[in-house]
Amino acid sequence: MKKVGLVGWRGMVGSVLMQRMVEEGDFAHIDPVFFSTSSVGGKAPTFGGKDGGTLQDASSIDTLKQMDIIVTCQGGDYTKEIFPKLRAAGWNGHWVDAASTLRMDKDAVIVLDPVNLHVIKDALAKGGKNWIGGNCTVSLMLMGLGGLFRAGLVEWVSAMTYQAASGAGAQNMRELLEQMGALYGAVKAELADPASAILDIDRKVAETMRASSFPTKNFRNTALAGSLIPWIDVPYEHGQSKEEWKGGAECNKILGLPPFRSPGSIPVDGLCVRIGAMRCHSQGLTIKLKKDAPLDEIADLIAQGNPWAKVVPNERELSERELTPAAVTGTLTVPVGRLHKLAMGPDYLGAFTVGDQLLWGAAEPLRRMLGILLD
Ligand code: HSE
Repeated sequence: MKKVGLVGWRGMVGSVLMQRMVEEGDFAHIDPVFFSTSSVGGKAPTFGGKDGGTLQDASSIDTLKQMDIIVTCQGGDYTKEIFPKLRAAGWNGHWVDAASTLRMDKDAVIVLDPVNLHVIKDALAKGGKNWIGGNCTVSLMLMGLGGLFRAGLVEWVSAMTYQAASGAGAQNMRELLEQMGALYGAVKAELADPASAILDIDRKVAETMRASSFPTKNFRNTALAGSLIPWIDVPYEHGQSKEEWKGGAECNKILGLPPFRSPGSIPVDGLCVRIGAMRCHSQGLTIKLKKDAPLDEIADLIAQGNPWAKVVPNERELSERELTPAAVTGTLTVPVGRLHKLAMGPDYLGAFTVGDQLLWGAAEPLRRMLGILLD
């Protein structure tokens, strides 16, 4: 049985990964070794009925070297520090990583097997060892639209995103709820009085979200609840944020196409916006098709793209009920709806998709890559 080192299993993405591995019975097929940065020597957890023994030192190259496979959700700083040392020490095992640090490296594959199993298999055959999870927004867009890309129908995509607090981290999810609570608390009395004036309530809400006492530490001193934030991650190039750049760069790499902005690549660009959802990223998409394909054919291609993509008919009630973060959160389903041809012309397709940022957006591709390595 393969020795699988698990690092960062206690954090948010790591916890979702552990939960999914338990649900799918993955622990039966591995010899898990749990690493820690803070409680070395303590009792490791028991997942899937397997006693994890003792927590090992996540910074010990000697111990890490004994693993056949290492799966890390510990974050980019850990990868930056440990990965080069491990390889320099001659470790030849498989490195499966949620962090973005190595994503664009030549010898790394961005893993999303329902979409790019061919790229993964090809790299495996060539001795590939580095398997990196993609950016959540990119992975979720490709899980939704994989069938259209596979059919070669996509000329370019503009993605306008509605990204959840979880993408910014666990503390941000808490802060979003604190902000919601603070807004409610500021007008609780007025809300209880049906005769109170809505514009008075609104004024109080605006004052509250602008007040210096409003909890905004994690959201860089700005309100998310009752508002939105039209910038995600650091400034990058061409006026894009890094999150927006990743759309084009990672999408093309996942699909095994030439690098973003070079001939043969597919332009993917848009604006990335943080909204007050908990853990589902949504995207409003404009897709330039290579030809005027009929809508029913498009819907079939999307639905057949993978078992998790689901077409929601472009109807009001179904969209309100099934195409929302509230409906999708905690599930692996990636609904795609609002499918209709846009006024720009018959080869312009409008679509909306929603996906759980912690499942297909982070943990699930890693879990499945581990399964591929164990096959
Ligand atoms: N960068 C993403 C976000 C999450 O901020 O929502 C990780 O892929």
